Order: sequence, then structure tokens, then C-alpha cells
Amino acid sequence: MSLSLSAERREPPAEAADGAWLECIECGDTFAPFDAVRYTCDDCDGLLEVRYTDLPSFEDFSGDGVWRYNAALPLESGVTIQEGSTPLYRVPRLEEDVGVEALRIKHEGMNPTGSFKDRGMTVGVAVAHELGVDRLACASTGNTSAALAAYGSRAGMQTLVLLPAGKVAAGKVAQASLHGARILEVDGNFDACLDIVQDLAARGEAYLLNSLNPFRLEGQKTIGLEILEACLDDYDAVPDRIVLPVGNAGNTAALYKAFRELVQSGALALEDVPKLTGVQAEGAAPMVEAVENDADEVRRWDEVETRATAIRIGNPVNAPKALPGIRETGGTAVSVTDEEITDAQRDLAGEGIGVEPASAASLAGLRKLRAEGVVESDERVVCLTTGHLLKDPDAAAAAGNDPEPVPAETEGVLEHLQR
Ligand code: F0G
Repeated sequence: MSLSLSAERREPPAEAADGAWLECIECGDTFAPFDAVRYTCDDCDGLLEVRYTDLPSFEDFSGDGVWRYNAALPLESGVTIQEGSTPLYRVPRLEEDVGVEALRIKHEGMNPTGSFKDRGMTVGVAVAHELGVDRLACASTGNTSAALAAYGSRAGMQTLVLLPAGKVAAGKVAQASLHGARILEVDGNFDACLDIVQDLAARGEAYLLNSLNPFRLEGQKTIGLEILEACLDDYDAVPDRIVLPVGNAGNTAALYKAFRELVQSGALALEDVPKLTGVQAEGAAPMVEAVENDADEVRRWDEVETRATAIRIGNPVNAPKALPGIRETGGTAVSVTDEEITDAQRDLAGEGIGVEPASAASLAGLRKLRAEGVVESDERVVCLTTGHLLKDPDAAAAAGNDPEPVPAETEGVLEHLQR
């Protein structure tokens, strides 16, 4: 299987250009990387991956941010707003409370637009530029639209975003709006938005920048590369496990690809690959269902609901890339309730780390798996928090303390405090 950690590498095909090509993960067909707009395989409609003639090891990386890793990317540089280089926080109280050897929080909310999507867009929008397109589009639960709008405007391109009406957090809509995207509010859920935007892209109306686009996932690989480098610096080993929230499973697929490439280049030993562990909300958990049933295909959920609107997704389009990642690394997938998500959001906030609900799913999932004994006490774990608290101010306010009205004089304030 081509997505195995121990897959043989193939010789570069004739279509390779600048050491890169696109390859179908289903039938193995190969395509030139930048000669035409294409998102899936021409022959079988399978998902495409970017493949490289040379794969880097850690010594090949220098500089900061996403482009530090350009030796692992299809371009030397991109449309940048200084994305990447996000903090990896120590959380000693939570570490003890959860009961693992080491716990670190990789806070992707510290990217320029407040989510990990920036890492994909810096590459994806640069490829769009290379292809000469002028209109970019995505379906989104919010963060992708904010990132697309920002990077598209920086590149001087038009942007179009399709959002599920009434189900996108306020901060995200505000970002898409101010960065100048045309915002279409669709009377349907995210999966319906993605169906439509794929049709628009197929008709040549716009260039698709959802995570179906293989170039976006290349940028997102850098999360995995940063985590490994930082943990090697911190405790001289790569983490045993990375826990992350799952929606379309693009990030899961991207981290897996980063690790596969390091194994293939000889930079990472097969037995050291971190266990990829996905977390979904109970009301939107098709990946968890597939992992639990050991199914090869994921069943599309038509009805989905969760307070973590970023991952309110019933049809994880990257499942064919992500399921092998979870299985081959010895990871798993777990679902958590909205209450568990909010509790985890408060826990992280109590360590000074402000995240949106979907992000807190990672910690909630870790707690559950630790309680079940799936995660063991000697494990070194990294939880990925994917988006900033300010993305969803309403959820933060609902989870936090209520403001208390007081009179505009000190005596009255003191009196209130003594109550
Ligand atoms: N966390 C946040 C904050 C997200 O915004 C998303 C996806 C995910 C996790 C899931 O990542 O899809 O790679 O498994 N948000 C997309 C969007 C769907 O439109 O912003 P995934």
C-alpha cells in the first residue's frame, strides 16, 4: 500500500518537475505538479499527494516559520504573513492532573489568522499564483475561510467562501469579511458547502483551496516537523503520541505524511513515529466510527451537531489518507461530549492558553483515553490546539465567568467584592 510507513519509494516519473509530482493514492497515476488545475486523479478520482525526488532530514531545515521547511515543500517560498513557529507550551499542572510523563500543548491558534490553516494557505495560495488562477474559493466551518481571505488578499486575488448559515463562530466571519472575501451563507451544513464548491471548481469558476487540495496539506506537514524538532530540543526524543481534533482529517493526513517522509529519508526510526490520535465531537464522529469498526471506508453522517462548530463535519474527505495514518502509527480515534470539550477549554484557559472549542477536543480526548488506560502513564504526549479563543467569543463567554455590574465608585465596588 502506497501510504504505508515502510512503502518502497518509486523512481520519479517523467511528469516530475523541479523534483516534485502529483500521485494518486488509489491507482498510482502520476501528474505534473503545476501544468494544470487538478484536485483529484483524472482516471479514478482518487485523492492526490505531492511526491518528491529528494526527501529531507532535519539538517536540511533552516530559518523560521513554515518556510524553514521548504526542503520538504513543493516551492522555495510562498505568500507569507509569517505563519508557523507556534509555541509548544509546558503545562505542568495539567500534565500531573492528566497523569502522563510529559504533556505539551502545540498552540496553532498563535498563527497570523489564529488557526493552523495559515500553514496550508501560505503554500496553497502560492501554488494558485503559480497556476495563474485569479479566483480562490473554499467551503468552511470558518477558519479556512478566514485564512483564505487573508492570504488571498495578500496575493491580490479574489476570494469566495461558502459557509453553513448560522453555524460559523463570529470571529471567523468577521475575518473573512474584513479581508474582503465574498461570503455566501449556505442553507445547509459544511458538507453541503463543500459539495457545491467542488462543483464550482470543476466548472472552472474558482480554484479550490479546501484540504482536498494536496498542496495545502504540504504546508500543514510543518506542524509535525515543528513538534518533532521542539521535543527533540526539549526532552531529546520525539513524542510518543500526538492528539488532535479531526474534522475533514486533513491535518491527520498531513502529520502522517510528514512522518512517512522522515522515515523514508532515514531521519526518523519507524518505531519512533508518534501515535496519531484523532478526536471528534460525539455529534460528528464518522472517523471514530470507522476506526472503532475497523472499516476501510467512512460512512457520511448527514446530521451533525456540536458546540465545536469548527469540526461539525459529517464527511471527512481526507479519510483515505488519514485512516492509514491512525492505524499504521498505532494510534486511535475517540469521541467526546460537548461538556467534556468545554471542561477542557476551561482547563487550558487555566494554564493561560486560550483556545476555541474544537481545539480543546484534543485535551478532552486525551483525558478520556488516559482514564480508559489506552494512553499510559509513561507516555510523552503533545495535544494540538488548532484555533484561538477569540475565534469564538460567544463560546468563550458562555464557558467563562459572567461580568458583574457595579456602580461607578470605589465604595460600591468594595461593597460588591465583600458580598
Ligand atoms: N480545529 C479547528 C479549529 C478547525 O478549524 C478544523 C477544521 C479542525 C480542527 C479540523 O481539521 O479538517 O484537518 O481535520 N476546520 C475547517 C474549516 C473544516 O473550514 O475551517 P481537519
